[in-house]
Amino acid sequence: MKIEKILQKKNREKIICLTAYSFPVAKILDEICDIILVGDSLGMTIYGMKDTVDVTLEMMINHGLAVVRAAKKSLIVVDMPHGSYEKSDEWALENARRIIEETSCDAIKIEVTPQLVSRVEFLVKNNINVMGHVGLLPQHVREIGGYKYQGKDEKSAAEILQTAKDIEKAGAFSLVIEAVPESLAAKISAEIKIPTIGIGASGACDGQVLVIDDLVGLNQEFTPKFVKKYENLAERISAAASAFSKDVKEKKFPGKENLV
Ligand code: KIV
Repeated sequence: MKIEKILQKKNREKIICLTAYSFPVAKILDEICDIILVGDSLGMTIYGMKDTVDVTLEMMINHGLAVVRAAKKSLIVVDMPHGSYEKSDEWALENARRIIEETSCDAIKIEVTPQLVSRVEFLVKNNINVMGHVGLLPQHVREIGGYKYQGKDEKSAAEILQTAKDIEKAGAFSLVIEAVPESLAAKISAEIKIPTIGIGASGACDGQVLVIDDLVGLNQEFTPKFVKKYENLAERISAAASAFSKDVKEKKFPGKENLV
């Protein structure tokens, strides 16, 4: 039902997706988002890792559970982390089932190379709702040497377009397109029937996703160029902590006024 609603938005209404990793943030975003993604970006945003490569299935399950507890309306998608789906169909299915059974999320997302399209098909045939991810694949960042735009030349653009079409054919219900030129994002979005959700892939996609920490200015390490910072929570938290610190140092016992 929730997936039906997402599918129906294609060519009608833009799809809103943000990441969340915790109960309080998911509760806020549930009022606004069509999809909440428990992204493996949590490796960086929550755990301070340098990339997503060492994120574990347990991390994804724990944060997925917190988000599902909070969200009542949005479709919840949990990322399958690096190493949890590449080895074999059976390995991927076992781990996808663990994520879904232990969190009660609606779907999983995997980063799909041409070699992994059959994995999507196998999961879908076994009743797993799959969101695909093409373009820049952050779990491959160490091999490709950084967070670089993909599909810039004709050959790689054609390969990404073909993979996107194959993912649709394999039965995925939607597709994240990350960091590709507008012309390619537009072509993919026009040529497949499932909704595309872009990140750094122009407004040509059927929806947009961003990492919530980037959007609210909580990520002080690195903010991708395509992100509009709507808030500066790092500054706000620092100001609140400094005010608290000042009160305590002046022996003011903050909160006293709330006590009866
Ligand atoms: O892990 C993540 O947050 C993602 C989005 C950025 C698409 O995969």
